[in-house]
Amino acid sequence: MCGIVGYVGHRDVLPILINGLKRLEYRGYDSAGIATYNESQGINLVKTKGKMANLEVLLESSYYQESFLGIGHTRWATHGIPNDVNSHPHASNSGDLVLVHNGIIENYESIKNLLIKRGYEFKSDTDTEVLVNLIEEVKKKEQVKLGKAVQIALNQVVGAYAIAVFDINKPNEIVAARLGSPLVIGIGAESNEHFIASDIHPFIEYTKSVVYLEEGELAIVKGKKIKIRNIKDDKLKSILITELNVELEEIRKGDYEHFMLKEIHEQPKVILDTYRGRLSENKDMIKMSGLIDNKEILSKIDRIVILGCGSSYIAGLLGEYLLEDFIGIPVEVEYSSEFRYRNPIIRENDLFIAISQSGETADTLAALKLVKSKNAFTFGICNVVGSSIARLTDAGAYTHAGVEIGVASTKALMSQMIMLYMFAIHLAQIRQKLSQDKFNIYRDELLSLPEKIERALALEPAIKKIAYIYSEANNFLYLGRKYNYPMALEGALKLKEISYIHAEGYPAAEMKHGPIALIDNDMPVVVIATENENSEKIISNIQEIKARNGRVIGIIREDSKLKSLFDHAIEIPSTFDQLMPIISLVPLQLLAYHIAVIKGKNVDQPRNLAKSVTVE
Ligand code: F6R
Repeated sequence: MCGIVGYVGHRDVLPILINGLKRLEYRGYDSAGIATYNESQGINLVKTKGKMANLEVLLESSYYQESFLGIGHTRWATHGIPNDVNSHPHASNSGDLVLVHNGIIENYESIKNLLIKRGYEFKSDTDTEVLVNLIEEVKKKEQVKLGKAVQIALNQVVGAYAIAVFDINKPNEIVAARLGSPLVIGIGAESNEHFIASDIHPFIEYTKSVVYLEEGELAIVKGKKIKIRNIKDDKLKSILITELNVELEEIRKGDYEHFMLKEIHEQPKVILDTYRGRLSENKDMIKMSGLIDNKEILSKIDRIVILGCGSSYIAGLLGEYLLEDFIGIPVEVEYSSEFRYRNPIIRENDLFIAISQSGETADTLAALKLVKSKNAFTFGICNVVGSSIARLTDAGAYTHAGVEIGVASTKALMSQMIMLYMFAIHLAQIRQKLSQDKFNIYRDELLSLPEKIERALALEPAIKKIAYIYSEANNFLYLGRKYNYPMALEGALKLKEISYIHAEGYPAAEMKHGPIALIDNDMPVVVIATENENSEKIISNIQEIKARNGRVIGIIREDSKLKSLFDHAIEIPSTFDQLMPIISLVPLQLLAYHIAVIKGKNVDQPRNLAKSVTVE
């Protein structure tokens, strides 16, 4: 939630902040703001409710003098409604300090009351304004420099944060710190400039050398040097520079109307990228060092628990079927948020898999910390390299889906499902549950998927026509059995996220236990009916819908005999039942996308959502 950007160096800071915030807008877009500083203009603080476009309009009409120090913010509101006053940056009472913040300060009210008693006044309802004034108070009281004041103040707050703050008395310095929200520092090519941001995108045209700030670290960032300290004990930390492998093109829309559409169409390549380098030289084994290096532990595990949120949770549901099929041990899938608020059973022989595109989802991170505190073995499936979850897990595998900018997850989910398939067959190999012949069959099917996804994508014009017919519906039901059930959930999730149409996903057989009451001519039902086995069961479900005047859109195999049962049939390429969800995902994404576009919704930045949910 919320995007932070900062720069100190020799370039004019305003374009860096504006471009940077545009690239971080996926993290939140309730409001946006910047603060720059130079000696003659002083602090130039411009902020407004709404998207970056609003801020740009405001900036055009406001006076600005070239500056070399600045911070910016794009907000997803937590404390205080999205309005101009609550927008970041926030200045301290003296006007010397300016701060941007991603996260939540849980004890802000008690600190605020204390500060009010000491004469501080507050303009906004935010926890952030409390924090900047707390830093100011510490700085004055303790007579310390900004870095030290931030360190002392952060030791008094409870909650999660990534912050960037500057002091006009030190106009060549930004202090940044993180706990629970990501922050990365870009080291300028000529080493006389530094960038700070919530992720690497704001600065990838300037530098590929980065330092990921670790949990509980504070950085004093100047034009020429950085110092990193531990917030708790103030100890100096060593600086680990990582070289990035991301190109600017990856974060551009190209010829596509939306990032979401681009990302849907990237999926054949994403599958290749996910399995690239993961087959042994003679292609008779999956290579996953995170698994093979921990062979001993993994041969003993007798239960797997998968943790995730949203679409990553849905990937986990498919993983459950695959792992139970291939390995034959119990698998449970849990919403990270639910898991940690129960008294979860965490045993020595359990394997915990955390799935997260961003690798920063607060609920998954917190669940993982709980698991780690009980010494269970953890494996991360993340997309963002160097993310918190990736670094916290004992072992893991990156999905290499590339940068996903559309807020609704598409290609990231695809890559997670591919990864879980490889994980399952690899673990089956390690545990000697899979013959070489069977492995070869599963491998060949994996290799055939990119071409099959291409063919599914070619159905887009037909899917668009269906989208036109149903775009006025107020409700949708999605049904699927067994492997298709997770896709019923995903189809519904995608539709509601981007078109704001109410949609529910159900196991097909559950329909008769309640949702059937909703069925009439106004409730389109999408049935994912790609199974070879037990297809007679899904036929009964379809007939139950038709008998109640329901209109049914079917997602079926190209060779399916079920076509005549549907009002509209989307015929997709065939593969094993277990892999059919990977193909049926494509029409579900396209249907949701086109309905949302027809309805004129902002598919890349749906209301109220943000890409990375770093609050619990
Ligand atoms: C759905 C979506 C969200 C995310 C969820 C988890 O389209 O994007 O439901 O899947 O917030 O995010 P990650 O995978 O980053 O942990």
